[in-house]
Amino acid sequence: MEVNISLNIYGGIVKLEMMKKLSRNDLCWCGSGKKYKKCHMEQDEYLRKLGNELGFKIPRDIIKTKEQIEGIRKSGEVTKGALDLVGERIKAGVTTDEINTWVHEFTIEHGAYPAPLGYGGFPKSVCTSINNVVCHGIPDDTVLKEGDIINVDVTSILDGYYADASRMYIIGEASEEAINLVNDTKIAMEKGIEQVKPFNTVGDIGYAIQSFAEFKGYSVVYEYGGHGVGVKFHEEPFVAHVGKRGEGMVLLPGMVFTIEPMINIGRPETKVLEDDWTAVTIDGSLSAQWEHTILVTENGYDILT
Ligand code: MF3
Ligand code: CO
Ligand code: CO
Repeated sequence: MEVNISLNIYGGIVKLEMMKKLSRNDLCWCGSGKKYKKCHMEQDEYLRKLGNELGFKIPRDIIKTKEQIEGIRKSGEVTKGALDLVGERIKAGVTTDEINTWVHEFTIEHGAYPAPLGYGGFPKSVCTSINNVVCHGIPDDTVLKEGDIINVDVTSILDGYYADASRMYIIGEASEEAINLVNDTKIAMEKGIEQVKPFNTVGDIGYAIQSFAEFKGYSVVYEYGGHGVGVKFHEEPFVAHVGKRGEGMVLLPGMVFTIEPMINIGRPETKVLEDDWTAVTIDGSLSAQWEHTILVTENGYDILT
């Protein structure tokens, strides 16, 4: 018998699991085909103890095992490498299709697969989002020109593990306001990352990002957010880049999620173009985004990309 109930406890959705107690030699619940004692038994015992101390049960399916974390970390090396390569080659005159080819080939050469390709029908291997494009821009024959700012968003799948990151690139000399937006959005991401430690909440991350961005006179996109990642492209929790301190899901060691604020010079609202993917600012204002995949550790965080 297996019963799953979702409850809102301690500001977060916690799944209470009433499971048949497995014995050491049973097959593990995760479907690996391994014996429980060789798979999740040790971790479940740790979570049960931690949960007892805290007075609630910890949902084991959003806490990654050591093996999964190492897999995501390796995948993160590929993601990082692809973004470094883009940084070496990107310049005025290059098309976003060329960036797509660089990322695709680098990913395959490193034994990985580009997660965007075919994801929900997405036609390319990377997202390229220029100027007023907020996210999910599709590579095509658009030529980069002096003064553009562009986000390149790479997600690799290596041995089944996903690692998701994006960076901004400034093409030649850009306006001061564009450069400031790019730099301030990176700082906003870092302020969010600094909030990551056990028993802080998702709301602490959103609050740190939103308060910094708004202090600088920008607006924060609320229609898209960060997300759990690792075994799938998008997992729980949703990581809003706006929020209130202490609200939302509590962070626990072993959780892996992205922080990827999208910040606009003008209004925060977005709309999706006819291609069903490209999200742009509703007022045509510039938008920037940076992204990392983050692990919650025993005493803080570890950046896996
Ligand atoms: N990499 C994006 C993210 O940060 C998701 C892109 S989905 C795609 O979540 F289909 F557009 F690739
Ligand atoms: Co992401
Ligand atoms: Co991404």
